Amino acid sequence: MAQLVVALDVPEANQAEALIDQLYELDVIFKIGLEGLYGYGERLFAAMQSRDVRYFVDAKLHDIPRTVAAGVRALVRPGAHIINIHALGGLEMMRAAVQAANDRADELRISAPHVFAVTILTSIGAEDLGELGLSGGPSENATRLAALARDAGCSGVVCSAHEVADLKQFFGHDFLTLTPGIRPPGDSHGDQKRVMTPAQAVAVGSDYLVVGRPITEAADPFAAAQAIIADMQSVAAR
Ligand code: C5P
Repeated sequence: MAQLVVALDVPEANQAEALIDQLYELDVIFKIGLEGLYGYGERLFAAMQSRDVRYFVDAKLHDIPRTVAAGVRALVRPGAHIINIHALGGLEMMRAAVQAANDRADELRISAPHVFAVTILTSIGAEDLGELGLSGGPSENATRLAALARDAGCSGVVCSAHEVADLKQFFGHDFLTLTPGIRPPGDSHGDQKRVMTPAQAVAVGSDYLVVGRPITEAADPFAAAQAIIADMQSVAAR
């Protein structure tokens, strides 16, 4: 069953904590990004652990293998369900991250978090790839990097819901997908360009649906999240 991931993209710790308090009963996964991690990370980790919620650390690590492994070790804690890294850090770096996640979880006697890879950022276009010296278009590069992530033992990749069907066909259903760019039916898209509704994303096989502003900026975040979960479940019930 696909799961809802709520992006806590807010500047202050107390706003993030308020959202966790409003939503944790729905058993959603919370996403902490660079803003929260650098701005108020320790406070947020403590808040999430005391409420016993699961979370995704959107850390996008990219460094030499030893440094990334050390970073992953520091992020493996009770409740850490997903940690991500950049596939462009290379095979050895990704392997080191997966190994560190498993080893640290063993030491702590907790289940190991999934390590997901970011392939090509959606902000990178064909021209940017050329400038970076990478041949081929964004989707070609993303598929190649997804294969490398799979070979390194990553659980899956961050991608657009529009890419899920192809990725599942290439790599199988056990290779997981985590998809931002999800908008409830009738919602304004904000700066997201190619969106899918929750039901559409579940129907194409996305495993984790990341939703931020449609929930965090709603007058009633609980009702907004509940409606998204209902939309997701409408597919399973069909
Ligand atoms: O508010 P919204 O639902 O657009 O938030 C989506 C979240 O997913 C944000 O935290 C954003 O940084 C992240 N994300 C994205 N597109 C990507 C990768 C990550 O929107 N390609």
